[in-house]
Amino acid sequence: MNTAAPLVIKADNLTAGYLPGINILNGCTLEAYSGELIGIIGPNGAGKSTLLKALFGLVNIREGAVTLDGDDITHTSTNHLVRKGIGFVPQTNNVFPSLSIEENLQMGLFLKPKAFAARAEEMWELFPMLADRRRQRAGSLSGGERQSVAMARALMMNPKVLLLDEPSAGLSPVRQDETFIRTRQINKTGVTIIMVEQNARRCLQICDRAYVLDQGRNSYEGPGRELANDPKVIELYLGTLAADVEKKSAPGER
Ligand SMILES: Nc1ncnc2c1ncn2[C@@H]1O[C@H](COP(=O)(O)OP(=O)(O)O)[C@@H](O)[C@H]1O
Ligand SMILES: [Mg+2]
Repeated sequence: MNTAAPLVIKADNLTAGYLPGINILNGCTLEAYSGELIGIIGPNGAGKSTLLKALFGLVNIREGAVTLDGDDITHTSTNHLVRKGIGFVPQTNNVFPSLSIEENLQMGLFLKPKAFAARAEEMWELFPMLADRRRQRAGSLSGGERQSVAMARALMMNPKVLLLDEPSAGLSPVRQDETFIRTRQINKTGVTIIMVEQNARRCLQICDRAYVLDQGRNSYEGPGRELANDPKVIELYLGTLAADVEKKSAPGER
């Protein structure tokens, strides 16, 4: 990582939740510097998805602040956040199934329709398997292909920060591997990425830095490879569950 890179997005001490009086994030902090690939891992229900939603204006932030390039975006609407350069791929229901691939990409660029041709061209290059099938309905695609459509849709606005919620979940080992490679490839084009992953070990291998979230709080953070070798992290968060996920993905590994 280039340590001189500017800070792009920062979540500072966030408290947030859905129901009155119940906080899901309990003072959660995260920073991403320009060009970083950040991983977020942690047990089910830890608040990982909630953190991404809070960064994207989809959860009410009760305390703390989010800044983008130093500007306070804590209570900014999602539409405005898209304009300011944040893209989000939710874990589920992340394509419009009745629309074609091409129409899904158009939806990603509805704020700037004139730029469509040029942006779509870049997406066909990045996701060649989608190019030939651009008129096919997204609902008829495989899970891995739908994930590609969802990523391409989020990239249409050329975001500086891309938020990915469990991009490899539910995919076959080979497709999981492709997803990780593709994520790295997108990151290498200069997009700062914050990725939540259930495949914790694999996530730690490819990310620059990672945060372990537990009960809405930061529990560990550091370079991915350091965390992957930290005996405490292994014991607490990379145990049997993570080992199972890893075993499943082993045949697809390079
Ligand atoms: N829309 C919602 N309304 C109420 N509670 C929710 C909602 N979404 C998630 N939660 C609760 O927030 C907690 C954290 O969920 P989530 O952020 O999805 O965890 P993770 O992504 O780490 O598995 C869970 O207890 C979950 O039940
Ligand atoms: Mg989640």
